[in-house]
Amino acid sequence: MAFPATRLRRLRKTEALRSLVRETRLSPANFVYPLFVCPGEGVRKEVRSMPGVYNLSVDQAVREAGEAGGLGVPAVILFGLPESKDEFASGAYDDAGIVQRAMRAIKAEVPGMLVIGDVCLCEYTSHGHCGIVRPTIPAQRRALMDAPADVRRRAMQTAAATAPRGPVTMEAVVDSAAAAMARSPEQHFEVTNDATLELLARTAVSQARAGADIIAPSDMMDGRVAAIRAALDGNGFEETPVLSYAAKFASAFYGPFREAADSAPQFGDRRSYQMDGANLREAMREIEEDLHEGADMIMVKPALAYLDVIAEARRRFDVPVAAYQVSGEYAMIEAAAHHGWIDRGRIVLETLTSIRRAGADIILTYFAKDAARMLT
Ligand code: PBG
Repeated sequence: MAFPATRLRRLRKTEALRSLVRETRLSPANFVYPLFVCPGEGVRKEVRSMPGVYNLSVDQAVREAGEAGGLGVPAVILFGLPESKDEFASGAYDDAGIVQRAMRAIKAEVPGMLVIGDVCLCEYTSHGHCGIVRPTIPAQRRALMDAPADVRRRAMQTAAATAPRGPVTMEAVVDSAAAAMARSPEQHFEVTNDATLELLARTAVSQARAGADIIAPSDMMDGRVAAIRAALDGNGFEETPVLSYAAKFASAFYGPFREAADSAPQFGDRRSYQMDGANLREAMREIEEDLHEGADMIMVKPALAYLDVIAEARRRFDVPVAAYQVSGEYAMIEAAAHHGWIDRGRIVLETLTSIRRAGADIILTYFAKDAARMLT
């Protein structure tokens, strides 16, 4: 049937009609509110690039969680700013760590609030990477030393031919390797996968012990869901679900978060473990893999620039799909609104609606409290 029998405007005439036929509805029941927890007492330190978002001491995080709960937001996700960082991210799996303390406090003082633990090492490592970092040159040297004699002989001949003069000594090799590493660390260090899994698993168990209702690994190591699932099960947490950041893209939209969580990588970037933003099919493989390893829910991140990935994930998989409206998405809206260039409230609801329409059941958003207020 065509015009004039069909007039699509008939159902747009009044708000009552529009509401009656609305296909997608927003509810605070789908929101997760991210909190950044820091040491101290009574601390509320605003993040420069995220007005309205704070580093909160445990007491203040409890207050925020309570406020969000009062507005109908059912869950918070916690990120930690530890007192100190080291190469092995000890603060991540310390039972008395900053996130673990906040979890215990929120679980005790805000009954009914779901607490999600973000499992990653980048907030706790001195170098800011999401896994254990090791130098590649010694690894190559070790591999060479283990190689068959003829391979070793050929390598030494090549080194001797390219060296300025004189015999190739072990000290010279070590010196030049150290100099090269200092000059360009991104070329000579790598984020290891398998050694990282053990620490992620420990972090997950420690968070579960502190009362986490859901474990959400965001590191993008291969095999982390299986490692975490096994560790949780082995420690009596068979009932704790895993929400995997399955399709997490290496994105410039995380910029403000790295200021908020003080987790910017000190050298290089995250492109060797987070996904290339150009790849939709690979995102589906990541999701499939995580589901095989035992993920109960999956996440796509960022949200607005990846709505097609959310939609495809929704179409292909029958598990709850979450999407993370990340720090850069928040910061852009806040900045434009601050200048009076956009209508903040309407943009917030429009972007959240589009993420739901694409197929996300759950939205992690820094607007959770504001949006909840607008919706009630
Ligand atoms: C930890 C992590 C990040 C975010 C969530 N978990 C940062 C990153 O990968 O660099 C980003 C969230 C945001 O930007 O709001 N790996």
